[in-house]
Amino acid sequence: MNDLEQYALENERRLLFKWQHYFDIYDRHLARFRGTDVHVLEFGVFQGGSLQMWQEYFGPQAMLFGVDINPECRRLEEPRVRIFSGNQEDRGFLQSLANEIPRIDILIDDGGHTMRQQIATFEELFPHISPHGIYLCEDLHTSYWREWGGGFRRRGTFVEYSKQCIDWLHAWHSRQPARLPVTQFTRSVDSLHYYDSILVIEKRPREKPFVVRSGTPSIPEYHGVGPGILTGLRSWFRR
Ligand SMILES: C[S@@+](CC[C@H](N)C(=O)[O-])C[C@H]1O[C@@H](n2cnc3c(N)ncnc32)[C@H](O)[C@@H]1O
Repeated sequence: MNDLEQYALENERRLLFKWQHYFDIYDRHLARFRGTDVHVLEFGVFQGGSLQMWQEYFGPQAMLFGVDINPECRRLEEPRVRIFSGNQEDRGFLQSLANEIPRIDILIDDGGHTMRQQIATFEELFPHISPHGIYLCEDLHTSYWREWGGGFRRRGTFVEYSKQCIDWLHAWHSRQPARLPVTQFTRSVDSLHYYDSILVIEKRPREKPFVVRSGTPSIPEYHGVGPGILTGLRSWFRR
């Protein structure tokens, strides 16, 4: 059991509300920020329990920012914990948030979980995540629930929307640049991790990938396979 799960199971402080299998996912992607002056922004303050958990986990140098539509949540501010009230579907509010928060290393979207909220938050704030930061969207199962705007393979769900990220990540290899160009997303994202109900996007500055080829061939005339590649490689070897 990791420290987060242990904390949650023994928690007698403010109420928190997380699925049990999330703790492993958090620890896998967030542990490297512990003990640093990490800036964490969480949508969905609720009763303040998760902000206290993050504070304990990341340590005294961490700076936490919470957002909730319920203005009462502002009462839960503490030293090194700032709380904003606003609607994460409101793009103007999200833009002003980006101006107010000096740096976002980790963004956790645990707010209202509707499709419009998840997409607006991603579109407005993903560009503001620091170059080695993390974007984590929770409760993706609402993409399958009608009441939240979801539905299996329904257009406009966050899961369907986020499938584009797979294309954007691979745009370096696109042969249809008009339809799939290299973008800032392609240049800034290292990996996408889908779990049950969570998408984690890890940022890292990237350049066009290239192949490393070294060593001596062991099978004469065999240069690798793949449509069209064989002919190309044969002529390349003869050069
Ligand atoms: C699942 S709870 C958050 C749980 C909390 N992170 C925890 O782990 O204890 C969801 C919160 O999102 C807030 N919320 C709902 N819709 C919202 C919106 N449109 N914008 C911002 N917050 C919203 C709710 O008021 C509620 O407090």
